[in-house]
Amino acid sequence: MHICLEGIDGSGTTTHSKLLSEFLETKGYKTHLTKEPSSGEIGLLLRKFLKRAQIHPSTDALLFAADRSHHFFTEIESKLTQNYVVISDRFLESSIVYQSAQSQLISVQWIKTLNKFIKEPDMTMILDLPPKKALERKEVPITDKFENIEFLKKVRKLYLERAQENNYYIINSNDLIEVVQKHIQKLCLEELDKIS
Ligand code: TYD
Repeated sequence: MHICLEGIDGSGTTTHSKLLSEFLETKGYKTHLTKEPSSGEIGLLLRKFLKRAQIHPSTDALLFAADRSHHFFTEIESKLTQNYVVISDRFLESSIVYQSAQSQLISVQWIKTLNKFIKEPDMTMILDLPPKKALERKEVPITDKFENIEFLKKVRKLYLERAQENNYYIINSNDLIEVVQKHIQKLCLEELDKIS
């Protein structure tokens, strides 16, 4: 099963992915925790590009899709075949939402086409909270181009619209870590029960 945690910057996807992975291990599941941008060569290149505002949004979209394709076919796919529960800290939905929020030139359909060889995840959860609160949580100085309130408002709106359309789970992330994590754990166990 492939579980994805999504949300605006500062929503807690990294913290909650780790905690979820540890929890599922204690329940006896083999888990594989991973993230995008990946730690591979394309992911590292992407991280440099995230510091530069003047890159055309289509370049960002192509790089994220290339990173995902490589990451999926060299890592995620084989773990799924070996029956791991793969937990992704960001995946396809980040591209759909962030890249289409960047420019009207970028359509959801085009992002889907770029990613058409990727298997859709089994479960997507959107960690939701107001952008102001999310940015207040950032401990390191903000240097990435997406980490500004106006942009994140657009991203949040798109995540919530997409969640409605696609039956993704929306998790209120504006609460204590323990409370949010319990909610995530409960939903994941329910989904895992359905397929076992
Ligand atoms: P992020 O998870 O914030 O990385 P880190 O916590 O290590 O800094 O991801 C970096 C940024 O990339 C974040 O603003 C979301 C954005 N992003 C996209 O725009 N498209 C994508 O497809 C992905 C995976 C991330």
